[in-house]
Amino acid sequence: MSTAPVVARTRDELGPARAALTEGDVAVVMTMGALHEGHARLIRTARERARHVIVTIFLNPLQFGPKEDLSRYPRTFDSDLEICTREGVDLVFAPTPDVIYPDGDPGVRISAGPLGDVLEGQSRPGHFDGMLTVVAKLMHLTRGDLFYYGQKDAQQLLLIKRMVRDIDFPGSVVAVPTVREEDGLAMSSRNTYLSPSDRETALALSRALRAGADRAVEGPSAIRRAAREVLIEEPLALVDYLVLVHPTTLEDVPEWYKGEALLAVAARVGTTRLIDNLPVLVGPGGGPRETFAEGPAAAPAG
Ligand SMILES: Nc1ncnc2c1ncn2[C@@H]1O[C@H](COP(=O)(O)OP(=O)(O)OP(=O)(O)O)[C@@H](O)[C@H]1O
Ligand SMILES: [Mg+2]
Repeated sequence: MSTAPVVARTRDELGPARAALTEGDVAVVMTMGALHEGHARLIRTARERARHVIVTIFLNPLQFGPKEDLSRYPRTFDSDLEICTREGVDLVFAPTPDVIYPDGDPGVRISAGPLGDVLEGQSRPGHFDGMLTVVAKLMHLTRGDLFYYGQKDAQQLLLIKRMVRDIDFPGSVVAVPTVREEDGLAMSSRNTYLSPSDRETALALSRALRAGADRAVEGPSAIRRAAREVLIEEPLALVDYLVLVHPTTLEDVPEWYKGEALLAVAARVGTTRLIDNLPVLVGPGGGPRETFAEGPAAAPAG
């Protein structure tokens, strides 16, 4: 039995609790709570490499739009803490918004730049600026050495890697492959919103990605076509986008393209917006991959 983590709710509680983690690297897993097996995998992967693990649980109002689901977002702190205990987490930082934003809405924010305006950013204006702002703050507050993020949120992962690179944050970002239910559905806290029939409909997303990735040897148009055909068969999944894009520019890859690409989908199922993606190697020997070999924000050549 592992002992329960220290829980810090304020900056004053976090300070000494963080200072006590002195024996080696500190890894940080940032979450919005409602923890599931995907989060547990992040924690486990972090523990393999770092002596200490901090989990942050913070529902960040800054990254929710006015019409988004902040108020109905699941809040399950007791079971979150049980998962953190089971996974051997040292410290849980679970602040309220007034702890993170003591002066209210922060005037200064991190800008995601053009990569924050496409795909998820197109449907969720300001989302990535809000996300990066809180990630930056939590990176500073936790003073982590290693930061673990899920491939499921590919654009988020790319933008965090870019932020760390572009404005020289200390610490390294590590990508963790997407954890799925047995039937292929990518795990997400928002899956709890799905009715049983929504849940069936939602399977079209992962099925489409898989069908596309299975045609990777044939090239981009075959991949896109195969994925689209699966989604057309499921009209109850209201597709926002289905794209095959370059992993670092998020631009559509041309037909001659060979190499790593991101096959990504977003759709509304019932009242819930779902996202999923697969890294794909396009061309000879191609197919689905778990994460990108170099990491999506690897240095450009030269
Ligand atoms: N199925 C998953 N596999 C791997 N990582 C995941 C998975 N789901 C979430 N994560 C990662 O966990 C971290 C925290 O994510 P978050 O708390 O937003 O959970 P979530 O399931 O994505 O919730 P939501 O769908 O409401 O955004 C992020 O780095 C995210 O990429
Ligand atoms: Mg999420």
